[in-house]
Amino acid sequence: MNAPASSSPASSSPASSSPASRSSASRSSASRSPAELLALAVEIAEEAGRLIMRERPRRVEVAATKSSPTDIVTIMDTAAERLIRSRIRAARGEDGILGEEGGQSPGESDTVWVIDPIDGTVNYLYGIPAFAVSIGVQVGGVPVAGVVHDPSRGESFTAVRGGGAHLAGHPIEVGQETDPNQALVGTGFAYDAETRRQQAAAVAELLPQVRDIRRIGSAALDLCSVACGRLDAFLERGLNPWDLCAGGLVAAEAGAQVAGLRGKPAGERLVVAANPGLFSALHDMLVTAGFDD
Ligand code: IPD
Ligand code: CA
Ligand code: CA
Repeated sequence: MNAPASSSPASSSPASSSPASRSSASRSSASRSPAELLALAVEIAEEAGRLIMRERPRRVEVAATKSSPTDIVTIMDTAAERLIRSRIRAARGEDGILGEEGGQSPGESDTVWVIDPIDGTVNYLYGIPAFAVSIGVQVGGVPVAGVVHDPSRGESFTAVRGGGAHLAGHPIEVGQETDPNQALVGTGFAYDAETRRQQAAAVAELLPQVRDIRRIGSAALDLCSVACGRLDAFLERGLNPWDLCAGGLVAAEAGAQVAGLRGKPAGERLVVAANPGLFSALHDMLVTAGFDD
């Protein structure tokens, strides 16, 4: 397995720069190279990261619940999404936006920004430093740029389609481990109780066959952890597009196979990310454990 990539301040990321409000005005709304879309996404994600760190009250209040009583939204989830949406609209008014808290806002172009203002909200609520701002950009339904910004560590994971994945400006690669017995595997659990029962049963089958399991609590960071070798593999059922869009591109550009089982694409049913050798070695084990039921 690769040694963990080093941390560095968010401000050292090459795409990070001045406040979004200043530079977005000078950026033509017609410009749309993946690199330009990424630069804007990084700027906005890092601004949102500063907001959620600065405004995090000592005791974060739960503002509402969503799919189940454990699926919470805090005031800062909503505030961060509002900020992200306003920055995207100011710079790219013709684009669509799909956000976890605000839903779908159709645009006139074929570009859609897919955002999770805080991925890892439960960690944020409890003060566990494993949450991220995730912004992916799709053109014609295909992810072309993405950033996952971890404000606690000051890290921005970035990728553009075909351009590799980076952490703080340095190229990153998936680990080389191909033996499932030696693999550190990240996973997550849905908010729905019945789905969790099935997920726990499948994880119980898998646990004795791998090095260990991690449940870090942010799918976007899990995918980026695979991308830089901090995890060998990640798998989760029930992810939404905003959990997957940016982190999935980062993992794929770092050399991971990001897919479902039996040739299916990654999606709500299942996301598995690992280097291709480990992916195929894990495949039947995961089917037998019940991840594809
Ligand atoms: C959740 C996190 C968690 C994963 C859940 C997601 P949220 O997102 O990514 O790790 O297991 O499936 O819903 O609610 O913190 O944005
Ligand atoms: Ca999420
Ligand atoms: Ca969220």
